[in-house]
Order: sequence, then structure tokens, then C-alpha cells
Amino acid sequence: MCGIIGYVGHRPSVPLLIESLRRLEYRGYDSAGLAFCLNNKLQVIKSEGKLSNLENKLNQSEFFLATSGIGHTRWATHGLPIEKNAHPHLSIDGRFALVHNGIIENYGELKEKLEKKGITFSSETDTEVLVQLIAHYVRKGDSILQAISKSLKEIEGSYAFALIECSQPDKMWVGRHSSPLILGLGQGENFVASDIPAFLPYTKEVIFLENEEIAEITTTSYQVYDLDLTPLNKKVTTIKWDIQAAQKGGFKHFMLKEIFDQPQVIRDCLTGRINKSKKSVILPELENFPIPHKIHIIACGTSFHAGLWGKYLLEELAQIPVEVDIASEFRYRKVPLSPQDLVMVISQSGETADTLAALRLAKEKKLKVLGLCNVVGSSIARESDITLYTQAGPEISVASTKAMLSQMLTLLLLTLFWGNKKQLLTSTFLEKAITVLSNLPEILEEQLPVLKNSAEELAQKYAWARSFFYLGRGLGYPLALEGALKLKEISYIHAEGYAAGEMKHGPIALIDPDFPTFALALEDELLSKVVSNLKEVQARGGKIIALTTPEVKVEATDLWTVPFLEAPFNSFLALPALQLFAYEMAVYLGKDVDQPRNLAKSVTVE
Ligand code: G6P
Repeated sequence: MCGIIGYVGHRPSVPLLIESLRRLEYRGYDSAGLAFCLNNKLQVIKSEGKLSNLENKLNQSEFFLATSGIGHTRWATHGLPIEKNAHPHLSIDGRFALVHNGIIENYGELKEKLEKKGITFSSETDTEVLVQLIAHYVRKGDSILQAISKSLKEIEGSYAFALIECSQPDKMWVGRHSSPLILGLGQGENFVASDIPAFLPYTKEVIFLENEEIAEITTTSYQVYDLDLTPLNKKVTTIKWDIQAAQKGGFKHFMLKEIFDQPQVIRDCLTGRINKSKKSVILPELENFPIPHKIHIIACGTSFHAGLWGKYLLEELAQIPVEVDIASEFRYRKVPLSPQDLVMVISQSGETADTLAALRLAKEKKLKVLGLCNVVGSSIARESDITLYTQAGPEISVASTKAMLSQMLTLLLLTLFWGNKKQLLTSTFLEKAITVLSNLPEILEEQLPVLKNSAEELAQKYAWARSFFYLGRGLGYPLALEGALKLKEISYIHAEGYAAGEMKHGPIALIDPDFPTFALALEDELLSKVVSNLKEVQARGGKIIALTTPEVKVEATDLWTVPFLEAPFNSFLALPALQLFAYEMAVYLGKDVDQPRNLAKSVTVE
């Protein structure tokens, strides 16, 4: 995701900002830029691609006289990853430069308002609106702090930003809402960054800004305010991590960090896509797109499991028939396709060779392709007719976690969008769905540490197992497949996911006391059937871990209870539980969690 660094101090800021951005590279980015003051003028240098491209543009010796500035690495979420859209952005009068993470949802409205006042825009980003708005209020006579406070009160969405002004090279202004921003306090120098590793070699003394806090920072001082400009006293924390640990946000592995990122992923994925007051789903990309009569979902690995999960929803709630195919099968299967069918490809990386080949095949046959993709500007994103970005942020661990959750959420939004357009959903249902979705990040945030503890206990208890069954029905079936895949990927324990009703047609022959079963026994209309299937397992002496809710009556060796949520929302608790169980197993068995043997993050060969 995007990275921010800001510096005011005594060191040459240009190399410092570049080095700081380099320490954020692990997060992924597609363009970068810097702004700094020289002789009362702002210099803004940006480039597409890697930081080395930016460095090549920074070789003028006078640039090394600057001792402050802001820098940004951009991981495109909306506009294309091109230089024009890279940060920092300048105000029309050239007085202010700003870097920003997050999404300003009402930027269209604000932009129109500013354009009416004669302000012209030089990018299509939402960010530019913020810098133009602040500069506009300053021109009207407000102090910089007043202008920031006024502007932020007008903004809807999320932000973390750093702002500089051309005539005050020893100052910067920063603020945050829903995107992280941390102050780093040094001797005669101060920092701000979206992530601690950016400034960790210089200081370990930090202040975590909270939502709707802003700060004015100089080389020797800082003052934090709330949005009404009331000064606040903030606690200074001393960081005890090294750089590597800091990149993982203090977590032991990227996989664990990414599992814990999921509440934020939900927020990012929902931003601009649900209207909480009107209780509706907004997908502008699809507004003029015909509702498909039939969908072919094509994907690989974890993305395939997300597709299978989406099939159940799209068929039930939007009444659209869906076929789900593994890309490497689809591309060689002679599937009869009708020109009205929609092909939906799902891919985290957007570069998986088989999925890309399936996409190209569909296009050759003149079918419309909708891409569900995480990486902006990737091949699949570029070649699809329409792309819905899943907004999970860069996923570093080879085993995919947060990407799947974001794919499921996007599929759910699509289902609600089409189901509503077809007038198949009652307003009560939609209202409930939007309310639950809005509350989901907090629910998951609260549950993750509890789930992790239970996963750890269970992993220690079952680490002897050499094989595992994962069983589920309905939405629980694709989750069972994913649970099994996660376990085999990172702990190398043989695991098979099955539709629970299919057990008796063969697999049950394997059940004995040494072959445990992980069952998804969450409340939905198929629960009683899962409970009966589990009785069959127990009758053969099989041990069972049942992921369930407190009210459910199910017999199992170990009950793993999670709070009740209605289907399909309960899948967003079940998935992290499955991920954490696999994670804790792998950790307990001493496996290389983030780099499992024989696996690649992005499979670009057939
Ligand atoms: C690889 C990864 C999996 C991923 C699959 C599909 O096998 O190891 O985690 O699910 O590719 O990747 P995609 O980027 O297309 O979702």
C-alpha cells in the first residue's frame, strides 16, 4: 500500500527521504515522488516504477541543500500508476505540496466546488482536492492550521497526509483518519511516516496519531490537535523492534500480519462501495454494465476457492447461474460459451499465467470479461473489460489470506448489487447486510486475538496428525477446501477438503482415531446436516474440531466457538479461524511460514 515519509531537521533530506521510502518498499508500490523547499520554492520530483527511476532524477547537487521534505510511494488503488497521478500533489498557486494515503470519497463534489472558483486540476486523483482545498482557505485568510481543520471537516473517507509550504522549510503539517500515521521524535529533527520502519534508524521515540488528529511539526517541536484545534497531550512510546520486525508491524510473520490486516481490508474494500444512509451498494464500474445471464468464474488456488464461495451467493441471492472453473482446466476444456455469458477472472496478483490465458481465450470468443484483481495495473486488470479492485493491499506471504477475504467481500458486494438491481432483495435484507458489513471490521478486530489463542491451543493438541479432513456444506464447503489448502501449503500436513455430504461416498473409509476432522459447523440452513455427517465420523472413532457458535448442539472432541453471525457474514470469521489454525500448526512444527517449500507467490508459467 502507499507509503508516506515526512522530515524536518538538519540532515540533507533528499537522500534521507529516498532511503526511508526504500524501507517501505516491502509494501509494494508502482510510482514514487518527493517534494522539498529550495529558495522559497517547492520542488516536486516524481516518477513511475521503482525508486531508482526517481533517484535518477534527483542528481542535481543543489537538491542536497534541502533539509526537509515529504515523500510517497504509491500503490495505485483507483487512477492508473502513471507519473501524473503519483504524489506529492501541488496546490494551484504552487505554495503547498501534499502526500496522502486513503480515499477521499466525496472528492467529485469538492472538486466541482473548487473548479467553480476557477481552480484547475492537473491530476485525476482524489488527493489533489485536499491540497487545493487547504490552499484555497489559506488564500481566503485562514491560518494553515485553520485551513486544514476546515478542509478535513468537509472530507468524507480516509486519509493520512503530510503537507509542506514553500516559505516555511522547517515545518510540516500532518493528520490522519482511518489510515495510520506515526510521528518520530528526534534531536533537532522530527519525522512522520505511515509505517515505523521508514524512520527507525533515526529514532525509536514515536507518537501514534489517532483518528481525526492533526499536528504541526517543526525541527524542534510538535503539537497535536483535534479537528477543532484543541491542543492534545500525547503519549510518547519507545519502539523495541528492529527494522525487520517493524516491517511486519511487530508480528512474527507476514502471514500473521496479513491475517490481522483483515479488518482494515474490509474497511478499504467497502470504502466508496456502500452507502450507509441509503443502505445500498455502489459499484460505479458496473452501473452501465448489463446484468449477466450466466457467469463463468475462472481462477487458481485460493482465488478459485473464493470464486466457489461466490457461486453460492450469486446463485441464491442474485439468481444468476454460475460455473466455477480452475483456470488450467477451463483453458483446455472445450466449454460451450454463449456471447451473453460473462467471464469473471479472479486473481490476487493479476499475473497468474493460466488465469490470464483463460481471460484471453474468453476475449477471443468475444465474451465480456470482468476481472476481480488486487494488483492495480497488472496484466489481468489491464486486459479485463472491467476491473473491480479487491483493495487488500500488497500481500507478501506466499500463502494467500487477506486477498481471499477481499475477494469474498467483493463477490458479496457484486451479489447485493445485482440482486438489488433485479429486485430480488428486500429492503430489510439489504439494510441488515449493510449494517453487518459496516460493523464487520470492529467485530473481526475484537475476535482476531481470541481466535489466535484458540488456534494456538488446538494446534498444539493436534500437531501429531499426519492427515486432516476439512468438512463443510454450502458456503462451508469452499471454506473447507481453503482450510485444507492452507494447512498443506504451510505445515505440509496432508489435508483434504470435502463437502460433508460426500464423505460417505468413499473418504469415510480413511477415518480412524489418527485421522482428525476439522468441521465447519456454523449456523445456516444446512447445519443439521453437517451435525449428522459429524456423527458418522464420530462413530468411526474420528476426532473432530468443530468451528461453531455457542447455541449449536454439536458433538465434537473440541468445540471452537465463535460469536454468532448470520450466513454469509459468518464466513468472514470462519476464514480467519482456518487461516490461524494452519498458521499456528506451521509455527508449532517449525516450518518456514512465509516462504513454504516449492511454492511461489505469483505463478507466471503454465
Ligand atoms: C499461487 C499462490 C496461491 C494463489 C494462486 C493464484 O499458487 O501461491 O496463494 O492462490 O497462485 O494466484 P492469484 O494471484 O491468481 O490469485
